[in-house]
Amino acid sequence: MNHASPSPLSALRSGPLKGRIRIPGDKSISHRALMFGAMTIGETRIDGLLESGDVLNTADAMRAYGATVERGKDGCWHVYGLGPGGLLEPEQPIDFGNAGTGVRLCIGIAGAHPFATTFVGDASLSGRPMGRVLEPLMDMGADVIARTGGRLPLTIRGADPMAPISYRVPVPSAQVKSAVLLAGINIEGTTTVIEPVATRDHTERMLAGFGADIETEVNCEGETIIRLQGLPKFSPQAFTVPGDPSSAAFMIVAALLAEGSDVTLESILLNSSRTGLFTTLQEMGADLVIENERLSGGETIGDIRVRHSELRGVTVPAERAPSMIDEYPVLAVAAAFARGETLMQGLAEMRIKESDRVAAVAAGLAANHVEHSEGPDWLSVTGGVCRGGGTVTTHLDHRIAMSFLVMGLAADQPVTVDDGNVIMTSFPNFTDILTGLGAEFSATGAAA
Ligand code: S3P
Repeated sequence: MNHASPSPLSALRSGPLKGRIRIPGDKSISHRALMFGAMTIGETRIDGLLESGDVLNTADAMRAYGATVERGKDGCWHVYGLGPGGLLEPEQPIDFGNAGTGVRLCIGIAGAHPFATTFVGDASLSGRPMGRVLEPLMDMGADVIARTGGRLPLTIRGADPMAPISYRVPVPSAQVKSAVLLAGINIEGTTTVIEPVATRDHTERMLAGFGADIETEVNCEGETIIRLQGLPKFSPQAFTVPGDPSSAAFMIVAALLAEGSDVTLESILLNSSRTGLFTTLQEMGADLVIENERLSGGETIGDIRVRHSELRGVTVPAERAPSMIDEYPVLAVAAAFARGETLMQGLAEMRIKESDRVAAVAAGLAANHVEHSEGPDWLSVTGGVCRGGGTVTTHLDHRIAMSFLVMGLAADQPVTVDDGNVIMTSFPNFTDILTGLGAEFSATGAAA
């Protein structure tokens, strides 16, 4: 829960950015790989695991449940798990730090085991709603003690036995869907999840990969129905985590904005439930080309070549939000340089991320003199020339920090974020990669 003291960081106008880069492993897949490994007897080998604050907290959590989780000398991670329903009672509260995905998925696992687990987190995580995952687990029989509004710290204890349920997910959230499915792994019988709005499907794909009996169908109303048979016989896996498209997003926008840039990002996850930003940037006029598309471990991956482009404003439809929910902060930065208005709709979920991201982005745009307006679930940005020169409050939110640093690489004046340490949550080598491409940062405050 303790963060190093805040460390301001500035990005200076840079460019051209040039080179071929590898982006660290996908965060969603990394969390799940550790969790599924912990529920599988035998060795699960993970190449390319994201070694960021959030994912390392999940590794510690799986150790607390009795799994062996080790990083080999070759950089691969090895997990020796205990089988569905086999996790052991943790001796201490589990601290998930800043990690919303980590804690919500782990609450799903914990809620289906007949012992108490207490979860804690940092100030950001302690303010985020957990009721959305607690409710289905209570329907299955779990007991919960939580702060008002279902906030951390909380304790959950599974019943013995738990009852499988059929659950219609009331919000478009892969975390909620996944928490129910992860509970379902540990419960005898069929757990059904109905998703009116499809969200990222890594849990379903990985469950199938580990050998679970899981089927997905889309009904005539367009809803996705997922049925999972509990207590599956998992077989240990060896897989490679593809590059995270949500992290790639920062490099892509930086290359689009910095004059003369030409950057290729290798082996990026291209699952269509994650690529809404790429579609949007192409609509804005981005020279963004996908090369060498291929399959890896049940997912489509490819290389992305991006060259500096003049962007124009577009309207981003609400239906696209689930496929780019984490990318709106950096899209808002791209929009600050694009000619005309960019209107982003369907942003309600963005208000309950690591920070209220609509408010945090709006404040960052204001600090950098960018014309914008916001509503409960929308944000409009009118771009062109971006002066920069502002200091942005990150509110313990890694994506706010990275987005506004990207702004600083192309704005007339440097842009400063109040705390660069928060980037460790998801992208520890963010500044190193950008510096290698030709970007300039200053840790001592904005240069004159
Ligand atoms: C995630 C789902 C999304 C996303 C988060 C990762 C996941 O959250 O914002 O960064 O790995 O399942 P929601 O499910 O709450 O939309």
